Amino acid sequence: MFKKLPGDEARNLVSTTPDTAVVFRPAVVKTPAFVTLVIWLFRLVAGLVRLVVRHPVAVAVPVGLGVIWIVYGRTMALVVAGFVPAMGLSWFLLERDSFLRLVGWRLLAWWRLVFVYRRHWQPVMVISGLGRHLRGRDYLPHLRRVTCDAWADRVSVKMLAGQAVKDWADRAEHLAHGFGAPSCRVAVARAGRLVLTFPRRDPLAVPLPAVPIPGDRDPGVGPVEIGRCEDGRPLRLKVHGTHVLIAGATGAGKGSYLWGTIRGLLPAMRAGLVQVWALDPKRMELSFGRDLFGSRYAADPAECADLLEEAVNVMQGRADRFAGLQRSHTPTTDDPFILVIVDEVAFLTAYQPDKHLRQRITAALATLTTQGRAVGVGIMAALQDPRKEVMNIRNLFPDKIALRLDESEQVDMVLGDGARDRGALADHISPIPHRGAGVGYLRLETSPDPVRVRAAYVSDADIRDMVQRYGSASTDGTNTGNGSASTGGAAEGYEYGSEAA
Ligand SMILES: Nc1ncnc2c1ncn2[C@@H]1O[C@H](COP(=O)(O)OP(=O)(O)O)[C@@H](O)[C@H]1O
Ligand SMILES: [Mg+2]
Repeated sequence: MFKKLPGDEARNLVSTTPDTAVVFRPAVVKTPAFVTLVIWLFRLVAGLVRLVVRHPVAVAVPVGLGVIWIVYGRTMALVVAGFVPAMGLSWFLLERDSFLRLVGWRLLAWWRLVFVYRRHWQPVMVISGLGRHLRGRDYLPHLRRVTCDAWADRVSVKMLAGQAVKDWADRAEHLAHGFGAPSCRVAVARAGRLVLTFPRRDPLAVPLPAVPIPGDRDPGVGPVEIGRCEDGRPLRLKVHGTHVLIAGATGAGKGSYLWGTIRGLLPAMRAGLVQVWALDPKRMELSFGRDLFGSRYAADPAECADLLEEAVNVMQGRADRFAGLQRSHTPTTDDPFILVIVDEVAFLTAYQPDKHLRQRITAALATLTTQGRAVGVGIMAALQDPRKEVMNIRNLFPDKIALRLDESEQVDMVLGDGARDRGALADHISPIPHRGAGVGYLRLETSPDPVRVRAAYVSDADIRDMVQRYGSASTDGTNTGNGSASTGGAAEGYEYGSEAA
């Protein structure tokens, strides 16, 4: 075995290149067999140690059973072998959460590591171009660890030296298909290390029923729960202290974001801490719950311009009062948070034929978005076409949501540069309402990574119920709702009505 080392073969090299007189013989260092044996032995021991450290449970179980077999005999080993799964099962049934956290997800992670990721790692890396096969040797990124939770597998990877995150982000689709996942998200853990997220199931695949209206006891203006995130957590949308832009093709489900937000704010509206001002130029969306807004509803473009300018007045009044006293706004009944909701905002800006009106509206929107945050005036606008010509102030909205879009270029227009590369595939959302309506990607001011979310569906019946319980007629007995600007005044929460009167 040791007589002929690979280096000796060089003696028999024959050059196939014509006119080559010189054949280089590689320098061969003969290693004594003893050294090779020591190296192999060392590798074996190191491998065993690594196995124990990485998979302590998987090693402890067979070793423990083996020891019992040797010390107490076969019967005892079989009894214990039956006892352990039975105990695991009862643990699972009684204390599901702790079982999954301590054992279940680890077992699953081990399973997925061995039978999915390690098994397919080499071909997926080489074929997707993330690994190299050079002169018979594979240079592959290092698969370090797999962790699982109820929603997804997270795979930590050490990149090959010289690779960039973009190399991986560009191949997200290759990776997803290669490992049999519906999608793949790439995030940086630290220099040279990535975490790939492969969802195993999609909690957003079916429509979600409307979130219950929060209790009246503790009316809050904090983040409003309006749906669910991809990982199963509730989607809480912050509206106070920011502005939100929602873009999506027609039928993408913009309405459920607007209505979900209104729904979550109803108790605070009743308590007088929030006012929703509704602009509905298409008359197809917010008109349905008109009674909720009292006098602060406008559909006609001229009325919309008036309402927006009124909001600017309120905002400037507050800015004058707050100047030097406070730098951020806390909602009170005297100075409630004003949320201006604009459906189909392009009808008021780009598609508005009256030039004077268009300028007034655009100026008011720009003023509100640039200065409204700190004094408690927020804008939530929905639009279909995110091009700059249509919505030139789109960059003034700190938080953005992209629902189903027609073209891939529109994704970055809404969410900002690089969002699509980071996994916001808004142009791939299904146009079938049951599967895709309300699904979108949310990009917050504070995080560059878009999050896939779905708004709960607020049906017509839900809106009717909201109007019945919280409509202006039911909140203050004197107001008949559907108000002209002259109603209100006495009742709390009618600041706009009283100021306009
Ligand atoms: N969150 C949602 N979940 C499931 N289906 C929805 C959701 N939102 C809307 N839909 C469905 O999609 C249709 C269009 O929604 P809509 O809000 O009117 O879209 P848009 O305002 O974006 O044009 C609705 O009639 C409804 O059937
Ligand atoms: Mg709509």
